[in-house]
Amino acid sequence: MSTNLKRTAKPEKTTAAPKSMKPEIKIEPEGGEMNESLIMVRNLEKHYGDLHALDGVSMDIEKGEVVVIIGPSGSGKSTFLRSLNLLEMPTSGEIIFEGVNMLDKHVDINKHRQKMGMVFQHFNLFPHMTIMKNITIAPMKLLKMSKEEAEEKAHELLKRVGLDDRANAYPSQLSGGQKQRIAIVRALCMQPDVMLFDEPTSALDPEMVGEVLDVMKSLAKEGMTMAVVTHEMGFAKEVADRVVFMADGKILETGTPEQLFSNPKTDKAKQFLASVLS
Ligand SMILES: Nc1ncnc2c1ncn2[C@@H]1O[C@H](COP(=O)(O)OP(=O)(O)OP(=O)(O)O)[C@@H](O)[C@H]1O
Ligand SMILES: [Mg+2]
Repeated sequence: MSTNLKRTAKPEKTTAAPKSMKPEIKIEPEGGEMNESLIMVRNLEKHYGDLHALDGVSMDIEKGEVVVIIGPSGSGKSTFLRSLNLLEMPTSGEIIFEGVNMLDKHVDINKHRQKMGMVFQHFNLFPHMTIMKNITIAPMKLLKMSKEEAEEKAHELLKRVGLDDRANAYPSQLSGGQKQRIAIVRALCMQPDVMLFDEPTSALDPEMVGEVLDVMKSLAKEGMTMAVVTHEMGFAKEVADRVVFMADGKILETGTPEQLFSNPKTDKAKQFLASVLS
């Protein structure tokens, strides 16, 4: 793919952009053909004071691709994922999502961030709201869905994860695995174009890991674009199109699960895989 990008000022179809706001800068490949990756990350840097958490990370994520990110603790996996939707503000670099330069100061970050669903290790459900309310509050507020529309969509998604009968329960009445399936439904109800998962099964009791991975597998089969930080190597082997190994804020290796797991090139990847696969 051409990395030769040209900038063309092309306003997006926005609804309520203030008049003073400049049009968003759309970045298109040379020739204007729209075969660009869904997400293009270029030379991403993140410093926390003296700490260099992301050190020149570049990555393309194609539509429909499942990318699994692995690496030792502190290697920058969460920082990378959180930078993609600007929960962390990178120090420098480029993130082009659906042709929009997310770090352009004229971009309405919230509008584009909504297209990236995120699921964390800890489910972050609102404890005082029912499951239904937890799921529907964002689409009603941010996508302006009617209550009926949001609830219909929520029921449909809850059925898919086998939890429609828990719509009126509160998070405290659910198991960890159920809460995580709800967190996935909540993200999906926003109709995202990509789902980011940061160790979604790490906080779960072992017997609940499978039910969450199953939901993620079915999402992958349906063609959802996914970036997943996980230590579940079985999941990576089965589902990932590509595995990315990070260490010290850098991408050291990338390849198919087969390539990376059977034939790691760097000592750091060899060491890491020996520790997680043993
Ligand atoms: N908000 C922060 N302030 C300061 N340093 C931070 C912050 N967040 C992360 N770091 C540091 O940045 C580095 C990368 O952290 P990050 O959480 O991205 O690693 P990780 O690969 O996700 O690790 P883990 O597997 O333990 O989750 C670490 O050294 C971490 O201590
Ligand atoms: Mg992390």
